[in-house]
Amino acid sequence: MISSPITIESKLPNIGTTIFTVMSAMAAEHDAINLSQGYPDFPISEQLIELVNYYMTNGYNQYAPMTGVPELRSQIANKLGSGLDLDFDPDREILVVAGATEGLYSALTAFVHPGDEVIIFDPAYDLYAPSVVLAGGIPVHLELELPKFTINWEQLESAVSSRTRIIVINNPNNPAGSILSRKDLDLLSEIVEKHDLLVISDEVYEHMVYQPQVHQSILGHPNLRERGIAIYSFGKTFHATGWKIGYCVGPQNLISELTRVHQFVAFSINTPIQMALADYLKVPDHYLSLADFFKEKRDLFLRLMKNSRFEPLSCDGTYFQLMRYDKIRDLPDFQMATWMTKEHGVASIPTSVFYNKGTDNKILRFCFAKNTETLTRATEKLCQI
Ligand SMILES: Cc1ncc(COP(=O)(O)O)c(C=O)c1O
Repeated sequence: MISSPITIESKLPNIGTTIFTVMSAMAAEHDAINLSQGYPDFPISEQLIELVNYYMTNGYNQYAPMTGVPELRSQIANKLGSGLDLDFDPDREILVVAGATEGLYSALTAFVHPGDEVIIFDPAYDLYAPSVVLAGGIPVHLELELPKFTINWEQLESAVSSRTRIIVINNPNNPAGSILSRKDLDLLSEIVEKHDLLVISDEVYEHMVYQPQVHQSILGHPNLRERGIAIYSFGKTFHATGWKIGYCVGPQNLISELTRVHQFVAFSINTPIQMALADYLKVPDHYLSLADFFKEKRDLFLRLMKNSRFEPLSCDGTYFQLMRYDKIRDLPDFQMATWMTKEHGVASIPTSVFYNKGTDNKILRFCFAKNTETLTRATEKLCQI
């Protein structure tokens, strides 16, 4: 290994290795069950793998069109159209991206100018603020209010300044497991219209919303649809987080601006997986069955944790369950998660890392996108703490 003599001024001096990498590495080192990082430990659809195989062996291996293969964009338009009873233009309103990560990064790069303020609700997924900073913008962090992680609308209204340009929402919210109601979207829409703002809506967990709740997309809201980009992830929806493929949806002029950045970030996304997903999306049950599938896992996890000393918070969406541990030990959450990983063999994520101020509510995040055996073994250990 060598080091360069060149001195680089870091653009992200305060950013270290993400907590997901830290906790997964700690889990591996101590042979702990990993309920930290958000990915499934069960296999993906064999049919989907066969489809990718088919397209790979049948010559679909060169650059795809920059915005995505027409077959996939058209299926995405159908999916959105039938879910929301609205029309989407597959050529102008949809952009296929290298995972929601690229969609979010490219959107923030396209729309944030130096000095622009971007409102982010904490706890927040860790990508938003650094992407804003890299674009020269200023993240303005507001905290969602416990116990249900709701938006304080008065606080939001007073946080909007003449420099505010964008509000980022994450619905359902990782790590909170909370969702936004139609009334929330109406209130958001009022503020956004009044101050002429753009909304970037991270909806990667759209199909993991648990009855009686339903997912409220900005795309289904007449005013927000005109003022926002919604971002989705096939990795989340089809249990294939390693594939890094997703899509952005919005008004044609916003998607066109976003595409200008996308062409230099990724240019285009791998062809055989796009072709395979286009076929796979033709059967709506492949994604509509997800809510029941994960609701069962959430309920199993909660049932198995009933005799533990952890206290669950409500989880209406995502595949994360938050648990309070303050009745067990009076430790900061990172220390608690570390102790549990090393001494009790179960890794989780401390939620303070999702806060700009490091707010520690003594809450840990557990991923329940795991098979029954993993959840059973993990909860046996957690119930002994
Ligand atoms: C809220 C949220 N947004 C975006 C992403 C990134 O999605 P992708 O893997 O498609 O890039 C994740 C992944 O965990 C997430 O939880």
